[in-house]
Amino acid sequence: MTTPLKILAINGSERDGNTSDVLRHAAAVAAARGVEWETIDLRDIRMSRCGPCGDCNDRPVPCALEDGVPGVIRKMVAADGIVFAAPVHGFGTASLMQTFIERAGVGYLRFDRPLSNKVAGVISLARRYSAGEVWAQLTVNALLNRMIVVGSGFPATVHALHRGDALKDDEGLTNVRRLIDRMTDMMELLDEHRSLTGRDNLLAAREVNERIGLALNETGPSAAGEAAPDAAAPAADEQPSDELWARL
Ligand SMILES: Cc1cc2nc3c(=O)[nH]c(=O)nc-3n(C[C@H](O)[C@H](O)[C@H](O)COP(=O)(O)O)c2cc1C
Repeated sequence: MTTPLKILAINGSERDGNTSDVLRHAAAVAAARGVEWETIDLRDIRMSRCGPCGDCNDRPVPCALEDGVPGVIRKMVAADGIVFAAPVHGFGTASLMQTFIERAGVGYLRFDRPLSNKVAGVISLARRYSAGEVWAQLTVNALLNRMIVVGSGFPATVHALHRGDALKDDEGLTNVRRLIDRMTDMMELLDEHRSLTGRDNLLAAREVNERIGLALNETGPSAAGEAAPDAAAPAADEQPSDELWARL
């Protein structure tokens, strides 16, 4: 291994509170394993909500809104592992993370799925209610992006209300530690495999944009009566194009 492995954490909390405390705990676990860590606090980036255009399902190019989201995506693409961490607000995902998922997913990630084969981890925080639902939502989102979610025992849900409470939830913190440890195990395994085989795209997808061929994307080849998606798909060892990133 030449360069250290890196985890990027996306923090969806509005304050330097429990989510930040848990991410500092997670960063210490990663550091003990020799993994670099960076946390992006979504509250610190300029991020617009989805606009009224509503044409995400049709447009063949990235979102036109200009804000800090593409910069975060570039950092995600450069990382080996990504942790999504968010508090529960109103029985759902806190709005900063929800907005990020909407803007990043539909606006940028759906084209080339550039997070494919990165290792994902999810942490949710709640006083008590709907921690599991938010954890599940963020996990499905990682799976949608073809990321590798590694089983690490119980979900990393942390129970906390007031600032400082998260550090008292021993069981929650144990689950966070296990999550980061298992993510690191998998990142190391993938890295070793990459250096042994020289292949970067370990599990190449048959199609890059899974919307092609669906009624959602009427401009796709099958909708236009052209070749079926699989016939137009890249070969298994073909690298995803850099076209999208050049446009960001
Ligand atoms: C607006 C708001 C809504 C909340 N809704 C819920 C909820 O539905 N269920 C729950 O268990 N906790 C809820 N909480 C509590 C937070 O999830 C909890 O305090 C969490 O530790 C906050 O993390 P933070 O310090 O990183 O912001 C809510 C807190 C706020 C501020």
